[in-house]
Amino acid sequence: DRTLAVFTSGGDAQGMNAAVRAVVRVAIYLGCKVYFIKEGYQGMVDGGENIVEATWSSVSSIIHQGGTIIGSARCMDFKERQGRLKAAANLVEKEINNLVVIGGDGSLTGADLFRQEWSSLLEELVSNKTISQEQLDKHKNLKIVGLVGSIDNDFCGTDMTIGTDSALHRIIEAIDAIVSTAYSHQRTFIMEVMGRHCGYLALVAALTSEADYVFIPEIPPPDDWQTKLCKKLEQERTAGQRLNIIIVSEGAIDRNGKAITAEQVKKVIEDNLHQDTRITVLGHVQRGGCPSAFDRVLGSRMGAEAVLALMEAEDTAEPCVISLDGNQAVRLPLMECVKLTKEVAKAMAEKNWQRAVELRGKS
Ligand code: F6P
Repeated sequence: DRTLAVFTSGGDAQGMNAAVRAVVRVAIYLGCKVYFIKEGYQGMVDGGENIVEATWSSVSSIIHQGGTIIGSARCMDFKERQGRLKAAANLVEKEINNLVVIGGDGSLTGADLFRQEWSSLLEELVSNKTISQEQLDKHKNLKIVGLVGSIDNDFCGTDMTIGTDSALHRIIEAIDAIVSTAYSHQRTFIMEVMGRHCGYLALVAALTSEADYVFIPEIPPPDDWQTKLCKKLEQERTAGQRLNIIIVSEGAIDRNGKAITAEQVKKVIEDNLHQDTRITVLGHVQRGGCPSAFDRVLGSRMGAEAVLALMEAEDTAEPCVISLDGNQAVRLPLMECVKLTKEVAKAMAEKNWQRAVELRGKS
């Protein structure tokens, strides 16, 4: 069947529009009917005017825009079976048998669950007379392909998620800007960056800005980090450096799993070194603005590959995720990637830092 729908879900990310554009245009080129599902899973649950046909021109002039033109949401309704039941009915009504979901970890996990439940959802819809047996027969298979759109780069199986590169550009621009004022006043700046439980943004930002110290969730600092941090900052000042930059990932933790916050780091520096210290929380600036060239290309390649994967897959194929492996777009089983991503979270919850780092390395 050649009817497919595309939607973006969870936190938006720069480059999602490039992916949406590629999905729509490649699908139309291949003779498919394409729908937008607006506002992520919420739009799928609510149906109605949230599910509209896409045209070639509806994705014109969007490749350079940040965010997602079809909206996104973190949907609570879809987490309940009742919500997924409504979503299934809306897809059957529009005769949609193929889905492209562009989102992060949680969104792709939701897609995996939806696919596993699909038959039972349809059976329930027949038994409560929402759809006919004939409709069930026609729609008994739902094919799903996932694209990883998230600034966090926290999904196992892909080298880079759509949006990460642009977020890094935002972060680096901000740090460069801070450095000039920090230099003038001989100040120390603590920059808090996003990434949820993944330290990728913080780590790359630290490496590329010559930061003096970085706190990331996967490698909690030694128990005496306060002493080590102060020694390092002092060393740099003694060597003639006029400023210090410290990057704190929003998910940073100590070896007991307790959060390390920017405020806490500031207090350590002020109490021990009496340095003039400021905090800058970059927040959603990191997710905003235009996508980088890399993210435009990544989104476009992933979107095109997603449509090809759907068209080439058997009706009963398991969901796959389009990943970047080196410079290649590859198709991996969605279920395995979700499982591996969950294992990282489990290893971190169990304070098995070495395993968490190994698993992240694998991804
Ligand atoms: O997952 C992307 C992300 O930006 C995380 O880095 C951050 O923790 C979270 O989303 C913020 O979520 P919200 O936009 O709902 O505040």
